[in-house]
Amino acid sequence: MNLIAQNWVAIGSLHDIPPQGARCVENGDTTIAVFRTHDDRVFAMEDKCPHKNGPLSQGIVHDNCVTCPLHNWVINLETGLAQGADEGATVTFPVKLEGETIYIAVSF
Ligand code: FES
Repeated sequence: MNLIAQNWVAIGSLHDIPPQGARCVENGDTTIAVFRTHDDRVFAMEDKCPHKNGPLSQGIVHDNCVTCPLHNWVINLETGLAQGADEGATVTFPVKLEGETIYIAVSF
């Protein structure tokens, strides 16, 4: 039987991320972009666009989406899915806020 444990890791404060911005954290070989929306919701996904691996953390956050800075694909921050006619998905990670501390769940 394979057991995958999830570990909630505190990665900083909500105020470390500008509204409608992102901050990156490293988890092994994976760079995770943690996004803050204009209304202080947080989302976490791999910092890799499903199109050609563009750095989503440098994109524009709007509503619950981010627009990739390279070719303007729009990625849903909740699902990681490309929107509209584009197809593909970015890996997302569970994330939660406790007070102003952000936690992400990583598997090990
Ligand atoms: S790499 Fe993101 S839209 Fe092309």
